[in-house]
Amino acid sequence: MWGKEFMAKDIEKILITEEEAAKRIKELGEQISRDYAGQEIVVICVLRGASIFFADLCRAISVHMKMDFMAISSYGDAQKTSGIVKITKDADTSITGKHVLVVEDIMDSGYTLKYLCKILNDRQPASVKVACLLDKPSRREVDITPDYCCFTVPNEFVVGFGLDYKGLYRNLPYIGVLKPEVYAN
Ligand code: IMP
Ligand code: MG
Repeated sequence: MWGKEFMAKDIEKILITEEEAAKRIKELGEQISRDYAGQEIVVICVLRGASIFFADLCRAISVHMKMDFMAISSYGDAQKTSGIVKITKDADTSITGKHVLVVEDIMDSGYTLKYLCKILNDRQPASVKVACLLDKPSRREVDITPDYCCFTVPNEFVVGFGLDYKGLYRNLPYIGVLKPEVYAN
């Protein structure tokens, strides 16, 4: 069968439904709007995983913002990063003196965001904060915590809502755990 059901057969369980994600992202957007009230921010989407969360979160934030995009590649396998991170697409907006909000899909080991925040901080912004859709604190290897986070998840490999396995499953409207046999193959 074609359609969402086609992908759903590979999902062991749904962790966060479409409705739960929408509600929580709206709340987070309101909190961010309060925290940055009266200020302008530069919101940077970390491609590609954060794209869906970014689109929803930006529309839930009511302060002035500029949107920009960065892409990063990590030399890890499909399920884990190695700690070596390379920028493959940089943001075009000048962030010097600006308040920056980095939007990422998930904080796992923490290497990616630690590295990204360092690079952005070198450009002398007024501030850099991180918003993650998901946090997997049990896997952290470096000292970093998201400033804003929608959900804490257990140590399981999750897909959907922008998160992928080998580039697939990003378009699932919910967040689910992949059946282990899918990545055993
Ligand atoms: P970190 O550098 O280990 O924090 O890696 C974060 C990146 O690893 C995320 O941006 C994701 O691309 C990927 N990642 C970590 N855990 C998962 C997961 O459970 N599902 C999908 N991608 C993941
Ligand atoms: Mg990613």
